[in-house]
Amino acid sequence: MTVRTVSSSPDPIRFAYWVPNVSGGLVISKVEQRTSWDIDYNRKLAQIAEASGFDYALTQIRFTAGYGAEYQHESVAFSHALAAATTKLTVIAAILPGPWNPTLAAKQIATIAQLTEGRIAVNIVSGWFSGEFRAIGEPWLDHDERYRRSEEFIRSLRGIWTQDNFTFRGDFYRYSDYTLKPKPGARLPEIFQGGSSRAARDMAARVSDWYFTNGNTPEGVKAQVDDIRAKARENGHSVKVGVNAFVIARDTEEEARAVLQEIIDNADPEAVKAFGHEVKNAGKASPEGEGNWAKSSFEDLVQYNDGFKTNLIGTPDQIAERIVALKDVGVDLALLAFLHFQEDVQYFGEHVIPRVRALEAARERRAEAA
Ligand SMILES: Cc1cc2nc3c(=O)[nH]c(=O)nc-3n(C[C@H](O)[C@H](O)[C@H](O)COP(=O)(O)O)c2cc1C
Repeated sequence: MTVRTVSSSPDPIRFAYWVPNVSGGLVISKVEQRTSWDIDYNRKLAQIAEASGFDYALTQIRFTAGYGAEYQHESVAFSHALAAATTKLTVIAAILPGPWNPTLAAKQIATIAQLTEGRIAVNIVSGWFSGEFRAIGEPWLDHDERYRRSEEFIRSLRGIWTQDNFTFRGDFYRYSDYTLKPKPGARLPEIFQGGSSRAARDMAARVSDWYFTNGNTPEGVKAQVDDIRAKARENGHSVKVGVNAFVIARDTEEEARAVLQEIIDNADPEAVKAFGHEVKNAGKASPEGEGNWAKSSFEDLVQYNDGFKTNLIGTPDQIAERIVALKDVGVDLALLAFLHFQEDVQYFGEHVIPRVRALEAARERRAEAA
């Protein structure tokens, strides 16, 4: 009997953490959070994370406050600062087509790749917050048009990074014999994307290296993974999958559950409802109604990417088993948020990652024996 499932990878699951480069932490709650959005806190966090076994850090892009998040550092500049403060971590810079065009993004990221031996990647996000676009005078496109633009953005980025005399004729972007010098270098920046709708999945199956999705159960994630991988195969493309989760790891399950309850009890109802209103519009705006937040409850929305749904809440053993269950349905990376980032990332590195690695090794041994 072989233990590895058809969709799971023999490679160890990767870990990424959300960079708290916006104020207020990763939950819309007035609960005490020993997390700061400032650069000193974040440099130290990045160092703790890479020493703890994290491969990636993901920054966020916001131009205005939405659900709290009153202050927001810009993602590309911040990513460079974190890469400069570390030696192994790859930092993923969030980029929003509209405010950015591919020419500027390709140039900025190529320069950072040159400065950091390629420890930079991008997360192309398509936007959810029409109020933000209005505030900065950017046209707000329909849901699927946003993805059509993002796909051209990704094709342009990759073309600029890999080809001389790049020529492209899109509806949103055009290039004629454009040669970027210097290009990023030997290690091409990986292209992640965020979104769950039909349009998001179809784009991933055509052009993205990685598909990031909101928190979900293993069954919910599996449906997306199977869908994306089948479509990618038809396109002769391959795409890896990362899933979001909010981790509450404590020595006992009771302690972990109590922390979750405290976060929810202290949720800021006005901010959660305002956020819910915006994202439900964004999610439901996709024609099939399967966008990221189409089915999120009030409690789900307290973690703004549905991170409680993944249920990495409990003891290190429980969490490690649930991470391996995600791997079994085809997940390649766990994207993690925490309440008190520095201390929780350290605890996760000490207590959860070694258990995940032990479970993975045991599975590999059983697979080989079979
Ligand atoms: C992991 C992840 C990270 C994201 N980061 C950002 C971000 O930094 N800024 C932003 O405006 N939107 C961000 N988004 C939201 C996406 O832009 C997109 O609006 C959302 O996923 C809804 O897409 P959908 O309707 O296709 O499901 C992120 C989404 C995911 C899943």
